[in-house]
Amino acid sequence: MAIFKQKNNSVVDLSKIELPKHVGIIMDGNGRWAKKRGLPRSAGHSMGAQNFRTIARYCSNIGIKYLTVYAFSTENWKRPMEEVSALMKLFKSYLIEALTDFKDDSIVVKFIGDTTAFNPELQELIERTERESANRDGMVLNIAMNYGGRDELVRATKNIAQQVKDGVLDIDKIDEQLISDNLYTKGQPDPDLIIRPSGEYRTSNFMVWQAAYSELVIMDILWPDFSTNDFDNALEIYSQRNRRFGGI
Ligand code: FPP
Repeated sequence: MAIFKQKNNSVVDLSKIELPKHVGIIMDGNGRWAKKRGLPRSAGHSMGAQNFRTIARYCSNIGIKYLTVYAFSTENWKRPMEEVSALMKLFKSYLIEALTDFKDDSIVVKFIGDTTAFNPELQELIERTERESANRDGMVLNIAMNYGGRDELVRATKNIAQQVKDGVLDIDKIDEQLISDNLYTKGQPDPDLIIRPSGEYRTSNFMVWQAAYSELVIMDILWPDFSTNDFDNALEIYSQRNRRFGGI
């Protein structure tokens, strides 16, 4: 089925585009969005959270198989306490909504990152969300919370080293696949496309290992303003890229 979307004055026909299997989004620009309106940063996060829901459902509707969103990094704890608390409250309310909302779309929700750092109530909600969505058959949505790509690699390294120490793993068996299998995203394809709204040209510790050959699309739009049309435009840009994976 052709899905047509308005793109400025032209149209993006998604049926003519090879869709990425896995899309990563660095949801950036909430603070600037709020500042521009004279609002507290938490208002930007709130709009960003609403947009997260819209874009996640849209991805599922158009046939994206895996979506990973960067919601809270291992470095975000450094933010002022009020901002961190506002984010924790938002996570809680959006996870409660996600339990019902994403059910209609058969979305499987997974969390990547060290979720043991969150308060017990949020941890319980995280576990429940994962448990209740595990048997669905739709898009896999990874929510990266207390996630850092370097931290993920340190954990994988310790895990592998422990197995060698215990004598259950031969050092010669360590290869790229084994490292991938020790990451939070075990069993999932690497992201084909990573979108960063807000115009910053960096990946900020997002999927450090998995992003080795991802196509990066930077868009000068703050996350709360990032629309489904903008998503389509990112898909179109991605479809015009020539992926060579180091070949010619
Ligand atoms: C980065 O923008 C955004 C965050 C650190 C938080 C992102 C979280 C959400 C969008 C809520 C998602 C909710 C769930 C349940 C997944 P920034 O604050 O760094 O913006 P700035 O660069 O303009 O200051």
